[in-house]
Amino acid sequence: MNLRHCIKVDDFSKDEIIELFELASELKKKFRNKESYKPFKDHSMAMIFAKPSARTRVSFETGFTWMGGHAIYLAPQDIGLGTRETASDLAQLFSRYNDMIMARVYSHNDMIDFEKFSTVPVINGLTDYNHPCQILTDMFTIWENKKNNFNNLKIVYVGDGNNIVNSWIRLSSILSFDFTCVCPEGYEPDNDTIQFAKSKNLSKINISNDAKESVKNADVIYTDVWASMGQKKEIDERIKVFSPLQVNEALVENAKSDYMFMHCLPAERGREVTDGVIDSSNSVVFEQAENRLHTQNAIMVTLANK
Ligand code: CP
Ligand code: NVA
Repeated sequence: MNLRHCIKVDDFSKDEIIELFELASELKKKFRNKESYKPFKDHSMAMIFAKPSARTRVSFETGFTWMGGHAIYLAPQDIGLGTRETASDLAQLFSRYNDMIMARVYSHNDMIDFEKFSTVPVINGLTDYNHPCQILTDMFTIWENKKNNFNNLKIVYVGDGNNIVNSWIRLSSILSFDFTCVCPEGYEPDNDTIQFAKSKNLSKINISNDAKESVKNADVIYTDVWASMGQKKEIDERIKVFSPLQVNEALVENAKSDYMFMHCLPAERGREVTDGVIDSSNSVVFEQAENRLHTQNAIMVTLANK
């Protein structure tokens, strides 16, 4: 069996992504019906967290446990990644104890070392560069809401060109949609990633700083915090730069009336998004957060070939 990892969204082909969504949908029904499903009986997974988390930790731990396995949470102070021990040594160590590794780290190079040195599947739970489980979940949520059809979708992200955006752009190299990132000058997503996705000639990718114009006819408006984990000390400066890009009631008026509001969460309410938008009937943020569980279960089952 080929060893497979989920380090970036394009570790899956288009057909595999559709299969993943079909499986996630099946597992969602099973989980909600409290059916017994134990493909990971007698298996364990090491979950390495160098950064904080609510959704990623709880959804992976809940999902792996429901599927019959034992998930072990390792907090930042437990591991000392890069200070006490290297990613390459940890990957080799946990490959001997565990059947799967899930990691959330700062440097994407550490994630690449996990991938390179592990002999069990590695799942990326977020790096400074990307967040594949989140964006696969987000597209699954859109796929469910749009009745399994995401042709001609207009997705507009408003905010910082961060790890979330890099993953959206990578996804646009596999699935076809119209993607716009509205961000202030100097806060654009990774340029190599933009060039890589553009070279596939599959999706329209736009970088803009005009939020009002960009959200016209949007099917999805997505935002995220203005300062990601590791950047929180820059928040005062960022508030000044990003305030014109707040997703508020006036901005979303320009989108389609049935547009979906999405946010990976945690949200800093009153900053990047107003309560009026995140609590509106267009908002799917909690469905989206729930879907982390089901999509990741599908990812784990697929990688382990269960
Ligand atoms: N969206 C997300 O990954 O949330 P956490 O940081 O709480 O895991
Ligand atoms: N961009 C955010 C996403 C959190 C899920 C961060 O990296 O902090």
